[in-house]
Amino acid sequence: MDQRDFVIAGNWKMHKTVEESKVFMHDFKPYLKNNRCKIILFVPYTNIESCVKLSAKTDICVGAQNFHWEDSGAFTGEISIKMLSGLGVKNYLVGHSERRRCFGETDDVINRKIKKAVSEDVSIVLCVGETHQQRESGAAIESVISQVKEGLSGINNINTSKIYIAYEPVWAIGTGRVANPQEVNQMCGCIRTCISDGWGAGTGEKFKILYGGSVDRKTCREFLLMSDINGVLVGGASLDPDEFGGIIGVANDILNEGND
Ligand code: 13P
Repeated sequence: MDQRDFVIAGNWKMHKTVEESKVFMHDFKPYLKNNRCKIILFVPYTNIESCVKLSAKTDICVGAQNFHWEDSGAFTGEISIKMLSGLGVKNYLVGHSERRRCFGETDDVINRKIKKAVSEDVSIVLCVGETHQQRESGAAIESVISQVKEGLSGINNINTSKIYIAYEPVWAIGTGRVANPQEVNQMCGCIRTCISDGWGAGTGEKFKILYGGSVDRKTCREFLLMSDINGVLVGGASLDPDEFGGIIGVANDILNEGND
């Protein structure tokens, strides 16, 4: 399953009550027929237990949006991988720009979390992306590559079925300002080169890089057709089962067209 061609991930952020997530699961499941993609839904902690139950025997992997790098301790309000593993969580988001911006997460904190995730053998999606100001000043590539290098610093081996990167330009998140697919592909190519340089060409080639930022069922196709983009990380549009299901449909259509 992990080596499937596209990774389609949803990030619910701080949305949906347990009841609302149950309704979503009910309405979304019909879209999973003949699915060939890896699907991950990063839901709020409070919805994990019910979503794990409701997604049993489906292609949906339920993930957490954050975690602490220790197993336990005096860290009020924090949750560890050890606790989440007990609920059946195997997928984690790390370093989302909202965590960096609103909660002061630094590259060093993100690196500690990634080291912990690797030692626990769980899957992560490391989020990286430049701000509008960095893009305007010509520092976009430098900023993104630095986040990749700092985040993965000290990781000797990359298991490409367990570590993915999502390139999410900060200015494209939740703004309806979709980035230019060619420019995104270029950035994803730079990330891939960075991975090849650090961990070998074979790892770079297999490495999965997703795009995130105002993706919906209308815009996803252009990104998924790009050579260096292996999937999408969807925020707002993942809250609507028809919209998110539509994206899964587009991704599967592309895979099926490739087989004709
Ligand atoms: P939107 O799709 O709402 O722009 O959010 C993207 C995102 O932040 C996913 O992690």
